[in-house]
Order: sequence, then structure tokens, then C-alpha cells
Amino acid sequence: MYLTRQEEKMLEGEYGWANQVSMKILVRLGELFGATRLIPIQSAHLSGVSYKHMGDASIDFLTALTEGSGKAQAPSTLNPSSFDPTYLPKRYHRERLKKQSRIIDLYTRMSINPTLTCTPYYLRKPKQGQHLAWAESSAVIYANSVLGAWTNREGSPSALAAALIGKTPDYGVHQAANRQPNVLVKVETSLKNEAEYGAFGIHLGKILKDKVPVIKGLQGPSDDDLKQLGAGMASSGMTALFHHKIRSEKEKMETMSIETKDIKEAAAGLCTTTETPDLIFVGCPHCSLKEVKSVAGLLQGKKVRRDVELWVCMSRYVKEKAQNYVDIIERAGGRVLCDTCVLVTWVKDLGVHTLMTNSAKTAFYAPTLNEVDVTLAPINECVKTACKD
Ligand code: F3S
Repeated sequence: MYLTRQEEKMLEGEYGWANQVSMKILVRLGELFGATRLIPIQSAHLSGVSYKHMGDASIDFLTALTEGSGKAQAPSTLNPSSFDPTYLPKRYHRERLKKQSRIIDLYTRMSINPTLTCTPYYLRKPKQGQHLAWAESSAVIYANSVLGAWTNREGSPSALAAALIGKTPDYGVHQAANRQPNVLVKVETSLKNEAEYGAFGIHLGKILKDKVPVIKGLQGPSDDDLKQLGAGMASSGMTALFHHKIRSEKEKMETMSIETKDIKEAAAGLCTTTETPDLIFVGCPHCSLKEVKSVAGLLQGKKVRRDVELWVCMSRYVKEKAQNYVDIIERAGGRVLCDTCVLVTWVKDLGVHTLMTNSAKTAFYAPTLNEVDVTLAPINECVKTACKD
């Protein structure tokens, strides 16, 4: 792999330990995937934030990086943590909050912006063709497929290394040839809501693994529908990119059809219970302004039942923009939580055994990561269930 003189010096340790470790990670990764050089990035988005998933070992590593002069060289943002600012700190042991705060503080000291959201694209939208180094698979696939930016699916260490160096190895979907579709997916049914888009994504991810599909037959999906589709695909498979607008020129592309029964089976496969939920969760990935508006519209003039919690998760940025809708949700008894989500916190310790969500991604992971039973349902059913007497 070709390195500039400055990159070589970094690798040799002349720019401090944090830069040396980061360069080692990037070079190793580049060599593994056949990259010939590093390319500059416009932004990095880092996972590996929640104390629930990262544990104590991450604190030692991040401390060593800050002490080794680690400083982000590209605008960098952080994924959700295990706490919101006000509600969850009262519900768990203080030690957990202390550890979580330490992790965030260490990132902040390295000039990484503690946005604590999985939808960094609402804060600052990447431009078409910009090279990024993002972790968080739902954000990666959205950036590539909906926004037209270029990013591989980074892991926590490689996204952090890219942030500190401001560069990433030039391989994978950073190269135009690897962005070409190689499988045609014909949708021969109409997807009725965001939960079905997500279930479709889970189904596709399982079949496609890391192939790049061009999806034909979607009927005017909204960006939020595509967000659910991508989050689902990236959860069950390794896909970083899908196309839904381009006309494919390739004649002999592998082709598959998706029918009503495939979607029904995928959605049913994501439900593990029909019992009344303890917790209803909307906002995976974190809500857009439009989604907050639609939850508020559905809750207008209603009250959330006392025996159930309704969580609506979003970034602080979207919350600020949506204050009127947030007021409606909170007046109805729903909780608007920033900086966190169900998967990255300890909902079982809150007494939650059954969860209802409109997110196929959450439905896919929650039975294992949260040890809860799940029902997948569209947003209007989620709100109806939350308010039923
Ligand atoms: Fe975001 Fe949590 Fe879902 S980090 S993508 S809301 S699992």
C-alpha cells in the first residue's frame, strides 16, 4: 500500500501513539482488502459508545488514545449511548452512568462531537460522492443508497482510526466499480407501511449477504421507508448499498422476485409474542422530523395507558426542531428520549419483558440483545396499542 512520507512517519510513531495505532489499523485493513492508498474523508461516524455494549475494556483503550495525543482530523460524530440525559439516569445504578459519562468524555477530548445519534445525516447531510468513514450499519446504507455518499461499513476501531487520521483505505464502495448492482430484485407486491419496508429489508439482507441490489417496483417510498428498508437489510446481511432509482443496463443479472407472502413471512418471523407489550418503542433508527410529527398526530388528544411505556427516540437536534410535536407526545404521556435507544440500554432491568416496535431492526435484535419478546407493528398500531384502555 502506498503511503505518503507523512503517513509513513505516523506509522513509525513520530506523530504520537494514537496516530501510530490508528495508522496501523488503517494500513492492516487496507492490505487485507487490497487498497493501494488512503483517501481523505469528509466525516467519520463512530459506533462503540454505549457502556452496555462496550464495557470497561473500551475505557482503557480510549484513555490510552487520549493520553497518546489522539485528535480527530475530520468532523466526527458519535452513535447513541446507554443513557438519555434525564430519565434513565434515575433508573439504573450510578456506577453505570459514571462509566458511560467517562466514555463520552474521552471521545469528546479527542474532538469527537458527542451527538449520540445513529442519524448523523439529519444534523449534517453528506453530499453526493463524498467519501466518509461511518460505522453504524443503518447510517452507512442510508448514506450510500439515499444520500449518494460513499462509505464502507466501518467497525468501531476503523471508524475511530479514520477519524483520528482523517483518511480511510480506498477499497470497497469507495471505488465506483464496486457500487454497481449485481442482483435485480423485482418487488411484485406493494409495501403498506414502514414495518413492512423493514421486514422486506430483513428478508433481503438474509438472501443477499453483501451483494449490491437494484430494487425495482417500489411504489414511491419515502426517505423514512428507505431508512427502514436499509436498516433491516444491514441488520441481517452485510450489504452497504442498494439502488432503487437507476435503470440497470446489465443483461444477465441474477434476478429474484419478492411477493406478498415473502413480506408476510418476514414480518411474522420478527414477532415472537402476541402478548400486551410493557414497552412500545418508535425511533430505530432515530426519528426524522416527519416521523416525530406523525407520532404526535396519532397521539393528539389521547393518553398513554398507565401500564405501558411509550418511548420515542431521536437526536437532540431533531428534538429541538420538533418541540411542538414533542410537547404533544409528552402531554399524552409518551417519553421522548435523546442520546439512546432500546437496544443500547438495559430495558430488561426496567422490568420490560415484551416490546412492540415499528422497527424491523429492533425486532431482529431485541430478543437476543435485550432478552425480550417482540411484536413488529406499524407506527399507527404502536400508538393505538399504547393508548388503548
Ligand atoms: Fe439507532 Fe439504536 Fe436502532 S442505535 S439504528 S436506534 S438500534
